Amino acid sequence: LGMSGVRAQEPAMNYDESRVPAYTLPDPLTMSDGRKVADAESWMSERRPELLALFESQVYGKAPGRPDGVHFEVLSEDRYALSNMATRKEIAVYFTDDEEHFMTLLLYVPNKRTDAVPVFLGLNFKGNHTICDDPLVTPSTLRTEPGKGPAEGFPRASAASRWPVEMLIANGYGLATVYRGDIDPDYDDGFQNGVHPLFYRDGQSRPAPDEWGTIAAWAWGLSRAMDYLETDEDVDPDRVAVIGHSRLGKAALWAGAVDTRFALIVSNDSGCGGAALARRRYAETVARINRLFPHWFCDNYKRYAGSEDALPVDQHELIALIAPRPVYIASAAEDKWADVKGEFLAGVHATPVYELFGSEGLYGTELPPADEPCMSGRIGYHVRSGGHDITLYDWRQFVKFADNYLK
Ligand code: GCU
Repeated sequence: LGMSGVRAQEPAMNYDESRVPAYTLPDPLTMSDGRKVADAESWMSERRPELLALFESQVYGKAPGRPDGVHFEVLSEDRYALSNMATRKEIAVYFTDDEEHFMTLLLYVPNKRTDAVPVFLGLNFKGNHTICDDPLVTPSTLRTEPGKGPAEGFPRASAASRWPVEMLIANGYGLATVYRGDIDPDYDDGFQNGVHPLFYRDGQSRPAPDEWGTIAAWAWGLSRAMDYLETDEDVDPDRVAVIGHSRLGKAALWAGAVDTRFALIVSNDSGCGGAALARRRYAETVARINRLFPHWFCDNYKRYAGSEDALPVDQHELIALIAPRPVYIASAAEDKWADVKGEFLAGVHATPVYELFGSEGLYGTELPPADEPCMSGRIGYHVRSGGHDITLYDWRQFVKFADNYLK
């Protein structure tokens, strides 16, 4: 099947709400054998594991869990960071017994603290040194596709508008981040670089059709960061929120679904394969995302290119896997590529699962107006005016929402 064969399955992208096809979502509260889920107990013991296994084998791929060899080394600690307001640590998280394969976790915790603090943990796109203008952060080694990134790496602080470190510190939160490329570089090389080869069985040279792609690897890396945070006495491991923007928002949602140690999950503009419902086929579709980013999902997911109705799950059930933990879904009005309404509806259709736990979720059939966040239930939501990005406005809502649960 050549590239043109794949394209042939791909109708033109639809941006017209009136042309969203009729669809029936799978019911999160009906088991595969037709039984209804009546209570939180059977959700947790039966339906949740069943759904998780479907997302693993059909969408993101199975990851290996925590390897025995995982260990940590605090590389640096500076109590006088950010105008003496914060302590900065850099930690090597080694993936195996050897110390060749690791990611570098950058952690800030507020100095003004009486106890262990809640922390936001998220992956960054361009390197740890890009998140703020702290001159002492060790620059991450750029791991873009050969010939594709800037030769000298991205400049320090070049992503600072996306990481309001000082605002978080002032509000009593720590911030932890890892460069996505330390876990798996974001391009299709047949899974030869990144963490995948560390786990190949004898004779294996790429993940099996139901094994992890890059998004699952990033989520796995977030769990390894959590392994470290559990050991750091400045951090309260019961109050770690996982956050991500766009493709890294897809990874944050999957990390939150798989790893129940995350107390709160934030998806910002995560779109297709994140919070947006696949069956709406609005803007980015399963066919399109698999063609442009063949390494993101497991190979089984490619079967659903052009056949979304055959998917045994849809993305509202990814949100439901997080229940009853709080989750916040953020969209941006001009970010049509991510299907704003599809992101909102995923929250709405996850709500029956939250209600099983006696919690409120998200309600409505129409999008709320721009810049009017909904946070009365455990599924928070807003549409920010503007485009595809994560801004101070977004973070202010996340902090406000998190204050309800982590303070
Ligand atoms: C592309 C991709 C999206 C993704 C986005 C991003 O636009 O199609 O699925 O979310 O990149 O990560 O910014």
